[in-house]
Amino acid sequence: MAIDETILSRADLPDIVATLMAWEGEASYPLGLHVGDVGWHARLPDDELDGTMRAFSRNGVWVAFGLFEPGLVRPRIAPGLAYDAEVARAVADAVQAMPQPQVCTDADPGSAFRTWLSAAGWTLDPDPWTCLYKPLDSGDRDLGDSATKPPADADGVCDRVAVQRAAFTGSTFTVEAWQRMATGPGFDPDLEMLSRDDVGRPVAGRDRLVGRGRKVRNPRTARHPPRPLGAGHGRRVLQALLGALGRAGCSGVSVHTPARNAAAVAVYTSSGMRAIENTQTLIRPKRLSVSAARLE
Ligand SMILES: CC(C)(COP(=O)(O)OP(=O)(O)OC[C@H]1O[C@@H](n2cnc3c(N)ncnc32)[C@H](O)[C@@H]1OP(=O)(O)O)[C@@H](O)C(=O)NCCC(=O)NCCS
Repeated sequence: MAIDETILSRADLPDIVATLMAWEGEASYPLGLHVGDVGWHARLPDDELDGTMRAFSRNGVWVAFGLFEPGLVRPRIAPGLAYDAEVARAVADAVQAMPQPQVCTDADPGSAFRTWLSAAGWTLDPDPWTCLYKPLDSGDRDLGDSATKPPADADGVCDRVAVQRAAFTGSTFTVEAWQRMATGPGFDPDLEMLSRDDVGRPVAGRDRLVGRGRKVRNPRTARHPPRPLGAGHGRRVLQALLGALGRAGCSGVSVHTPARNAAAVAVYTSSGMRAIENTQTLIRPKRLSVSAARLE
């Protein structure tokens, strides 16, 4: 049965998030495109967002999604279909058609999708990412401190955005982008954290994340660079978030970060998260782009 591919827009984001939530397993941590990635993607203006999300369906049922950005694809294949050759082929064809000279994609280990791409000449991205995970229980509900809480007003949002911009080189995050994210699907204001020092300056921040009652993945912890390195600001904001997630009834939290980001791995580890897996995306080397596109 044929797989249909549909280009989606902002109006589809709530349905995508609801479907991805339904695909999360209680007994496993999430890998691949996650509800939090879609929520973060909502920060983009319509002209940048529209066309970047695609859905793949069979017989009217969604079987895969993909977030297609220039040179980077984040696919997610429905649970139980990792070995489905037809679904893998449809997603792989879309990824192969990316026009950029070099393209990178997530692909679950052992999946038909990863196997297909490897047959087409794709190879390991040399930079591994580390997945860290922590199950949450009632003992985590008390984590946090009184100076770390969700931004309470417009000034707080400005500070939250400033932390993000300062911590991530090349960040284009703005208050407008934050507002688009905050009105997007799955945004939970209780899970957006901002730490202040003893004179009230913003020192660290964390993304909101979706996933009450289930596993949560949190992409970004950020410390404001002028604030001292290793002073515990990153850990404070992370612990406040773990506490909020515990109180919200989340069962676990995972994060992916480049393995070479020693500061990130250290801050997550120091809050009780444990490295449980290294993952490597696949890349299509420039020299293979023409022959791979012809492969049948
Ligand atoms: C990652 C980041 C938030 C850490 O913030 P921080 O305030 O310096 O971290 P903390 O002071 O809370 O330190 C927590 C632990 O990490 C350790 N640590 C911090 N930076 C480190 C580094 N560069 N190398 C090794 N360990 C480091 C600290 O010593 C401390 O360890 P301890 O628990 O044994 O005492 C900060 O470096 C940052 O904003 N980086 C840029 C954004 C980023 O990459 N975020 C992560 C994205 S997934």
